[in-house]
Amino acid sequence: MEFFEIVGGNRLKGPIEIGGAKNSALPIMAASILVEGETILRNVPDLADVRQMQTLLSKLGVKTFRDDSGAMHLRVEDEMNTHAEYELVSKMRASVCVMGPLVAKRRRAQVSMPGGCAIGDRPIDLHLRGLEALGVEWELVNGDVVQRAKKLTGTDIFLGGPFGSSVTATANVMMAATLAQGRTVIESAACEPELTDLANFLNACGAQITGHGTPQIVIEGVAKLHGCEHRVIADRIEAGTFMIAAAITNGDLELQGARIEHMHAVVDRLRRVGVLIERAEKGVTVSTSRRLEPVQVTTQPYPGFPTDLQAQMMALLSLADGNSMITEKIFPDRFLHVGELNRMGALLRKEGPTVIIEGVKRLIGAPVMASDLRASAALIIAGLVAKGTTRVHRAYHIDRGYERIEEKLAKVGANIRRVSE
Ligand code: EPZ
Repeated sequence: MEFFEIVGGNRLKGPIEIGGAKNSALPIMAASILVEGETILRNVPDLADVRQMQTLLSKLGVKTFRDDSGAMHLRVEDEMNTHAEYELVSKMRASVCVMGPLVAKRRRAQVSMPGGCAIGDRPIDLHLRGLEALGVEWELVNGDVVQRAKKLTGTDIFLGGPFGSSVTATANVMMAATLAQGRTVIESAACEPELTDLANFLNACGAQITGHGTPQIVIEGVAKLHGCEHRVIADRIEAGTFMIAAAITNGDLELQGARIEHMHAVVDRLRRVGVLIERAEKGVTVSTSRRLEPVQVTTQPYPGFPTDLQAQMMALLSLADGNSMITEKIFPDRFLHVGELNRMGALLRKEGPTVIIEGVKRLIGAPVMASDLRASAALIIAGLVAKGTTRVHRAYHIDRGYERIEEKLAKVGANIRRVSE
């Protein structure tokens, strides 16, 4: 097992390159199952989750490799196996994105039900409702969802759920509908930029999708999809993570490749805290000049404040000059970082889906335990400013969604290293 060791107190200063978006690359890789011919994807980040998706795709007959430029090539070579097994799906929930492509292209799929995880239980009822509406028949057999479809027929589908829209359910239904007969209208679709990126990829492969990025997506089914080249968008969550790292260390960073137009809610909240954020030639510059102001944050589906930056924001607001509140509306249990931040001297009090944050003057380094990808990022951020040394155990959580985070942070002045236990 590995951990990160951070000695707090250094200001971050300089350029950081923002990588490709994990939550765009994963569904786009799954969409290659639909394609006849070669797909070439650029700006795919080198992450544990991406390698996990490559492993799953190879078991499903999709050959993948990276060329010398780092571009990922994907091509379907065998359509026999349609079983995404528990061992793979349980490691990465995004594996569920192969469900729509498999049943649309091969007319059958057997995908293990993703279990719960550190941020809550992860139901897939909206995925199944949407695919069923297209004509998919399914049943639960020993923890697997076994699906069959004689043919897929376009229809109107409402995908709204108790927490608003669902990102990967929208992805699954949109991907399946590209090969359905006729028109599909998805109402209450998720609007995340990663879904817009997926739709742009599918259209480059010959799909006919409009309305992506809005709550109503229209898909005219086509007979087949051909290969294409596509560049994955920049990762807004990685960019937001480094914005917060700059703010908490009173630093000055240039986030190269960041797309500020995907980050309005995050920029709005950080500007209210007192963070200076400006468009720059190559991306976005972030700096702070004074004490941090307390704010209220509520996580929402896009374009609202993203749940994937909730933990990181909590670390920052732990040091604000007054009381802040964060309400988690997407994953009400996504608070495993609260106890760990309190071990570092934060004053956080959970009341249902809300955490009251009483600003403190400083955080103190401590050994802490990462629980999920974004909570790990929050603990690293806290370690950057805490007095003394912080050890963030279970570094593998971070590697799922951040490429070489310790190298990127060290390059702009952080005292951080990866240690094998
Ligand atoms: C995607 O997960 C992201 N993952 C998550 O990022 C992100 O936190 C989440 O969207 C919300 O933005 C990928 O894109 C691979 P949802 P997803 O379906 O699609 C409920 C990260 O850190 N729901 O939009 O699984 C669900 O319980 C990860 O990169 C149902 O009720 O999330 C949740 O409360 C973590 N039924 C809400 O909807 C369903 O069928 C939103 O979930 C599906 C979801």
